[in-house]
Amino acid sequence: MMTKKILRALAGETLPTPPIWMMRQAGRYLPEYKATRAEAGDFLSLCYNPDLAAEVTLQPIRRYGFDAAILFADILLVPQALGCDLWFETGEGPRLSTIGNPGDLARLKDRDGIHTTLGPVYETVRILRRELPSEVTLIGFAGAPWTVATYMIAGRGTPDQGPAHALKASDRATFTALIDLLTGATIDYLSAQIEAGAEVVKLFDSWAGSLKGQDFDDFALAPAKRIIAELKSRHPGLPIIAFPREAGDRYEGFAKATGADCVALDNSVAAEWAAAHVQKDGCVQGNLDPSLLVTGGDRLVSETKRIVAAFSKGPHIFNLGHGITPDADPENVHRMIEAVRG
Ligand code: CP3
Repeated sequence: MMTKKILRALAGETLPTPPIWMMRQAGRYLPEYKATRAEAGDFLSLCYNPDLAAEVTLQPIRRYGFDAAILFADILLVPQALGCDLWFETGEGPRLSTIGNPGDLARLKDRDGIHTTLGPVYETVRILRRELPSEVTLIGFAGAPWTVATYMIAGRGTPDQGPAHALKASDRATFTALIDLLTGATIDYLSAQIEAGAEVVKLFDSWAGSLKGQDFDDFALAPAKRIIAELKSRHPGLPIIAFPREAGDRYEGFAKATGADCVALDNSVAAEWAAAHVQKDGCVQGNLDPSLLVTGGDRLVSETKRIVAAFSKGPHIFNLGHGITPDADPENVHRMIEAVRG
C-alpha cells in the first residue's frame, strides 16, 4: 500500500490535507544550515560532501516535519561535471566559464563522463534513503536544459537571459547542440539519482518564462518531454514534477504535453485559474508567494488558506511559488504549516 502522502498526491489522489514541502527548504534562513555550511567550508564543498549534504537535507525535516526532503545539491553541478569551471562569488551568485562557440562546446565532456564528478551526489541520496523517516518522500532534481544553458552561455545569472537568447539567434547549431548535450546528461544524472534511491524527481526550468511561442515548444517543452519519456521508460511509474517557472498560460496542457505527473506553479498565476486550467489534468504543486515568509502576519495565514481552498478539489502538494529567501523568518514557516495542516 502506498502510504507516503506526496506519492499519493502524485498518483492523483485528492487528500483531505495537502502534503507540504518548500523549495530551498535547506538554506540560509536556517541557522543550522549556516553552521553546517561553515563546517564544510563553502557551498560547493557542502554539495560534494555526502555526510554534510545529507545533514542539511535532514535539517528542515527535523525542524518542521515536511512530507518531502529535497536532495541538497545544485543545478549547476551538471555543467561542472561536463567540464565547465564553476565557482560562487559571495553575495553575488554563480560564475562559470562560458560557452559561446563550437570550440567551447567541443571542449566539454560527453554525457557519460559526468558520473565521476557527480558520484558524491548519488552517495548523498543513498545516505538519505537510509536516514529519512519512513513517511518522508525523497525528491531528486536537476535543472532543465534551457535554464542550465542560460547560466553556461552567460557565465552567470542574468535578469533577462540575454546572452542565451543571442546565441540562439546567432548560432542556432551551437545552441541546439548544447541543449541536446544537456538533455542527455540530465537523463543520465536523474536516472543515477533514481537508482541511488530518489523516489520522485523534479525538473527546474526557472527561466522557462523567457521563452515565447515556438521557442517555448522547442526549448522548454520538447526537452522536458524527451527527459520524462526516457526516465519513464527506464524507471516505470517513477513520478516526475516539472517546474516551467513563469510559463503563464503555457502551464495549461504542459503536463499532458510532456508526460509530467505534476506541474509546479510559480506565484504569478492565480491558484483559482490554475485549479480550473492546470489541475484538471492532474496534480499541481504550489504556489505561495515566498515574500510572505518574510512579512508574515495575517496575510501569510489568509493567503496560505486561500491556496489550500482553491486546490482542494484535486490532487495538490502545497509549496512556495519559488525558493524561500535568506531573510525569511523560520517562525513564519511554522505558521504556514499550521495554516495548511490546521
Ligand atoms: O533546499 C533545496 O531546495 C535543495 C537544494 C537546491 C539548491 N539550489 C541549493 C542552493 C536546489 C533545488 C537548487 C536549485 C537551483 N539552483 C535553481 C533552480 C531553482 C530556482 O531557484 O529557480 C537555480 C536557478 C540554481 C542556481 C543557483 N544556485 C543560484 C542562482 C544560486 C545563487 C543564488 C542564491 O540563492 O544564493 C545558487 C546557490 C544555492 N543553491 C544556495 C543553495 C542553498 C545558496 C548558496 C549558499 O549557501 O550560499
